[in-house]
Amino acid sequence: DINALEQKFQARIDAEQKIEPKDWMPDAYRKNLIRQISQHAHSEVIGMQPEGNWITRAPSLRRKAVLLAKVQDEAGHGLYLYSATETLGISRAELIAALQDGSAKYASIFNYPTQTWGDVGAIGWLVDGAAICNQVSLQRTSYGPYARGMIRICKEESFHQRQGYQIMIELAHGTPEQKQMAQDSLNRFYWPSLMMFGPHDSESAHSARSMQWKIKRETNDDLRQKFIDQTVPQIEYLGLEHPDKDLKWNEERGHYDSGEIDWEEFQNVINGNGHCNRQRIQHHVKAHEEGAWVRDAQNAYDQKRRARKAS
Ligand code: ACO
Repeated sequence: DINALEQKFQARIDAEQKIEPKDWMPDAYRKNLIRQISQHAHSEVIGMQPEGNWITRAPSLRRKAVLLAKVQDEAGHGLYLYSATETLGISRAELIAALQDGSAKYASIFNYPTQTWGDVGAIGWLVDGAAICNQVSLQRTSYGPYARGMIRICKEESFHQRQGYQIMIELAHGTPEQKQMAQDSLNRFYWPSLMMFGPHDSESAHSARSMQWKIKRETNDDLRQKFIDQTVPQIEYLGLEHPDKDLKWNEERGHYDSGEIDWEEFQNVINGNGHCNRQRIQHHVKAHEEGAWVRDAQNAYDQKRRARKAS
């Protein structure tokens, strides 16, 4: 019966065994995974837009090549993650439709505009830095294809984070105008980066179940704290001012205490009313429509091959 199956399933999770696509799993586990992995995939793909916006304007040929490679990596991450989601019995077309009709979310951070070259540095450093914090812990997620995807993605994200921080070092140690640009990007991207970890644990709808099933291995607040702590010395090294005026070392906790996030802004952005939400989806729809001929050609080729095999 279903109870016995669920108990056996939980025992496997507790024993740190990976769940594989053909294994039995509770329906809610499958649904939760489809939700999280597909939203993760959408984030990688939509995340190409804010940075792609700077490929032609990067300040040197070397910077263009590096940024182009990074943006292409993000496309690759999206593809691994869509494939991982498809192993759960849903099609790519359904996933894309959910992104485009707004029923599936993607990371809030990608609805903020990239106004300066400094923003490209801040995204690599802070946004990819926050993503790594989360993804390192997801390398131990209970679903095999997701965990394996994360291992590979983390390697590439480390390179992304370093290229961003290196841009920040050059700007922060450059002319007064460059240093100001770095400070301005840090100020604008710091808080939205903290929002990437999601609502407080007490407000997080999915956390308790996801932790029990080891889909998530660390909670939103714990991961956010890790990121806050690791970012302090990085800001110091750049010689920039910390955007959080309430930041204070807490000897007892062994962590920094910090100011409160603007949760109203977070809710607005995840509900479709951020700066660039409409633009991001419109661009995705346009690119998807323009790529229709590639999918048609692929289908026609597959059909021809199948017909040839059958005859
Ligand atoms: N941006 C957009 N939506 C968010 C965010 C965010 N930063 N944080 C939480 N949400 C959404 C959740 O998706 C969920 O919405 P849903 O029920 O419609 O699916 C809702 O807010 C409630 O949040 P939680 O219950 O805390 O959701 P969850 O347990 O899924 O935790 C988290 C959110 C931490 C983002 C988790 O899904 C996760 O670890 N995902 C994988 C990592 C990831 O997606 N990274 C993307 C950015 S990294 C990059 O692409 C470079």
